[in-house]
Amino acid sequence: MKLRVVNVVGARPNFMKIAPLMPEYRKHPADFEPVLVHTGQHYDDNMSQQFFEQLHLPEPDVYLGVGSGTHSEQTAKVMVELEKFLTKTPADLVVVVGDVNSTMAAAIVAAKLCVPVAHIEAGLRSFDRTMPEEINRLVTDALADYCFTTSPDADENLRHEGVSRGKIFFVGNVMIDTLLQLKEAGLKSDVRRRLRLDGEFGFVTLHRPSNVDSKETLAEILSALDVVQKKLPLVFPAHPRTVNRLKQFGYWDELQRWENLRLVEPIGYLDSLCLMANAKLVLTDSGGMQEETTVLGTPCLTIRENTERPITITEGTNTLVGTSHAKIVAEARHILEGRGKTGRVPKFWDGRAAERIVQCLLEHRPKK
Ligand code: UD1
Repeated sequence: MKLRVVNVVGARPNFMKIAPLMPEYRKHPADFEPVLVHTGQHYDDNMSQQFFEQLHLPEPDVYLGVGSGTHSEQTAKVMVELEKFLTKTPADLVVVVGDVNSTMAAAIVAAKLCVPVAHIEAGLRSFDRTMPEEINRLVTDALADYCFTTSPDADENLRHEGVSRGKIFFVGNVMIDTLLQLKEAGLKSDVRRRLRLDGEFGFVTLHRPSNVDSKETLAEILSALDVVQKKLPLVFPAHPRTVNRLKQFGYWDELQRWENLRLVEPIGYLDSLCLMANAKLVLTDSGGMQEETTVLGTPCLTIRENTERPITITEGTNTLVGTSHAKIVAEARHILEGRGKTGRVPKFWDGRAAERIVQCLLEHRPKK
């Protein structure tokens, strides 16, 4: 019997994680009827639509249009709308990815409707509950029937929390499936020409509430970036949250005057891949970019006190630098002097994670 599998995406980092699964289901038309739901957590073209195009994602079967709001508002809106959809058109399995509010909201709705839940990128823990994503990860994994993991540390975290071994499947990293599929296309992007980058450069992204919502923390990070940009041109595609805060705190106009900073709108997947692959260094607070730089072999300085992706430090090119001016500048200097981390690609980050997930679902079919 065909399984109706409802795949839920909502925010930018979800799109590259669902993209490799859709064609994989289609290889088994007698077994799967995939459905794609977009919650609308991210809605700007440059946060959503352009990713659908570049990642060759099909048009969503349904768009819930929830938009922005407080955490509770956003989570509640996804829950109300998704419950209506799943009540009208029942699912045999709900697949959620990553750790955004849409992920947790969809997992709760499915579990309450007694629909099995699969969580892709399960088990990651920063052990920092002030981080909204950590709450999303804990709740989602507690409800999941299938925990698909990217690294052995995630398996261990789940086992410590009492998740039975039978629910944990180490399958690798679906986001890296997408990266490997689109790397060649990304390297052809003319983004460097458009941004007038003809030599070495650094690539910056910042959007975590803990970094950009506090005026003092943001000022400290910016003061470090100012030192770095005097030595190395920096490209900084600013997330809408960050743009809002830079304006609100009165830093926006000053940044326009920095000679070596290209402060631009959010960029697409292929441009981002091209910049990450060619950058001398990446400075970021993103989760996904810590993993992508590890695979691309680019040194990454993560502007956070902790990470839920420790394998990027132990095996990859990632270094945690926190938010202090001195540490960020010192580690950036280290890389500029040619002493950046190299590292290796973790096990199963090989372009075949989606294939393993679908195989696992075929072998351990959810009960109808
Ligand atoms: C969300 C995720 C975060 C992820 C990030 C990637 C949660 C808790 N957080 O954070 O894990 O790393 O996405 O981007 O789910 N906005 C727009 N246009 C958009 C989307 C957002 O202007 O298309 C603005 C709104 O002002 C909104 C703010 O950005 O209030 C924040 O958006 P939101 O979805 O709440 O969280 P992110 O910071 O994007």
